[in-house]
Amino acid sequence: MKRLRAVMFNRKASGPGSFPSEIMERISPSEGQRIADIGAGGGFFSLLFSEKVGPKGVVYAVDIEPVFLEYILERAGERGLRNIRVVRGGEIFDSIPGNELDIVFVRNTYHHLPDRTSYFGEVGKLLRPGGKVIIIDYRDTGGLSFHSLFGHHVTMETVEKEMNGAGFLLERSYGFLPRQWFLVFGKDLDGRSPGTAPGG
Ligand SMILES: C[S@@+](CC[C@H](N)C(=O)[O-])C[C@H]1O[C@@H](n2cnc3c(N)ncnc32)[C@H](O)[C@@H]1O
Repeated sequence: MKRLRAVMFNRKASGPGSFPSEIMERISPSEGQRIADIGAGGGFFSLLFSEKVGPKGVVYAVDIEPVFLEYILERAGERGLRNIRVVRGGEIFDSIPGNELDIVFVRNTYHHLPDRTSYFGEVGKLLRPGGKVIIIDYRDTGGLSFHSLFGHHVTMETVEKEMNGAGFLLERSYGFLPRQWFLVFGKDLDGRSPGTAPGG
């Protein structure tokens, strides 16, 4: 049953309505980079990152559900991808060294995370200088959508406020996803006050 959820996550993430190529184009991971995919689900994006960063890079697929992590390792094995490390959600800060990551990717998971300001304060310690946190999550589009009915969404103001509290500044937002925010945060190195991020 849980494996089926992993399959469904990947089916949905890979569909045209999720704009995976457009998302990858904006993120544009390069060879050798180290990326954490927090709330990796079935690993659709972890696997894409793994191909892009190549053997010199590393992808940490982080999830609280061990069955999803097993599923991701199996898919990686089938594709001959050896640079994916799976990490249990509760062990992220013990398993990933400080100053390690170029990108932290959090798709459709931010709204699930508890104590987000302190959580991302800790995530900040895992980032290398210049590292980014990319958050894609549902906005409340209203009506009878699953995400609106069950509260699986978050406002941009909430994300920005919590991330500012965690020591990040919104650097960029992309507006092409019809139902989600796509926000790029960098570390607030000198305590600047939040400004308006350029869109695209
Ligand atoms: C809606 S799924 C998104 C999966 C994937 N990111 C995608 O875009 O297809 C949310 C995922 O977050 C995971 N999750 C929930 N709470 C978490 C936590 N505290 N730490 C890590 N993963 C968590 C769930 O197990 C689930 O796989």
